[in-house]
Amino acid sequence: NTTWVDALSATELPADDVTGVIVAGRDIAVYTVGDAVYATDNLCTHGHARLCDGFLDGHEIECPLHQGKFDVRDGRPACDPVTEAVRSYPVKIEGGRVFVALD
Ligand code: FES
Repeated sequence: NTTWVDALSATELPADDVTGVIVAGRDIAVYTVGDAVYATDNLCTHGHARLCDGFLDGHEIECPLHQGKFDVRDGRPACDPVTEAVRSYPVKIEGGRVFVALD
């Protein structure tokens, strides 16, 4: 069973950008690309940097530390030096709230 955790209000979503939010004690990056919303772990898999401090270009988030990139749709690495995927999470919007499935 999927457990949906309330992460933030839909009105707090940035437009074609990324924001960081703590969800059930976990640091999560939430992205919007047009009308689509995605979520991944916020910590880069390469070093100690938060992806919410990076630059979102289309579906790719660029890490602020060494400019590695991930595809926000599934977390897969999209540019060196990152080689390990960042974990991604299903997202849904219901009743004006954004929910993330953490498990
Ligand atoms: Fe993210 Fe190095 S810490 S690319």
